[in-house]
Amino acid sequence: MQNEIDSNRIPKHIAIIMDGNGRWASKRALPRVFGHKAGMETLREVVRACSDMGIEILTVYAFSTENWNRPTEEVSYLMNLLIEYMRKEINELNKNNVKIKILGDLSPLPKVTREEVEKAVRLTGSNTGIQFNIALNYGGRAEIINACKKIAEEFKEGKILKEQITEELISSYLFTSGDIEPDLIIRTSGEKRLSNFLLWQSAYSELVFVDEMWPDFNSRQLEKAIMEFQNRDRRFGLIKKSSE
Ligand code: IPE
Ligand code: IPE
Ligand code: MG
Repeated sequence: MQNEIDSNRIPKHIAIIMDGNGRWASKRALPRVFGHKAGMETLREVVRACSDMGIEILTVYAFSTENWNRPTEEVSYLMNLLIEYMRKEINELNKNNVKIKILGDLSPLPKVTREEVEKAVRLTGSNTGIQFNIALNYGGRAEIINACKKIAEEFKEGKILKEQITEELISSYLFTSGDIEPDLIIRTSGEKRLSNFLLWQSAYSELVFVDEMWPDFNSRQLEKAIMEFQNRDRRFGLIKKSSE
């Protein structure tokens, strides 16, 4: 396998399931929340690395619709950590021309968290560098249900005909509307599942699973995951080029 990234075949959109914070902390006999805190440092490094590499979109799974069912203290900690992240990072992100977009419904979030997140989205709205999608209170199924409801409404009002319901139309009603689909999805911590992440958009994504817990992940491992992606043969249902 190559040991350098082919800069001509960089994935345009990388999505990451940042998993393993709790286990990272438990292994060190620390409370789980220490893992979330450490994970925030990894995120800083990874956003910077993706931006430097010229990745167009980075999407990270920060909080799922199912994560509300964790103990209240952990959920509160995560909601406060988001505030801390935005306050600490926003100037740096803005300076680096990063454009923040949120995937998910922010309305159930605590008011201060929501406001801080919305402020970051507004502030970076006209930036033209890497697009940084943060999946927050995100669930792939909730996203599809939400799209179905909007389409049903417009169908009822006669704004959409049945024949107009296509893949493109459905895509345009998702939170990722206008975004290219992820070329590469990385999940840390050794778990091999999507856990309700980008269910529609991942149809032809390459999946790379790495064993490191998220706080141990870094830009070198990101490069390795990209190299693994570059060694894959993406066929999209067609036949291998060499056998044509
Ligand atoms: C990922 O780490 C972060 C969130 C889901 C918010 P976890 O908290 O899931 O850590 P593990 O998987 O329990 O180790
Ligand atoms: C997925 O991780 C959600 C995030 C990384 C935010 P989980 O840790 O919640 O997923 P499961 O429970 O292992 O499937
Ligand atoms: Mg987990």
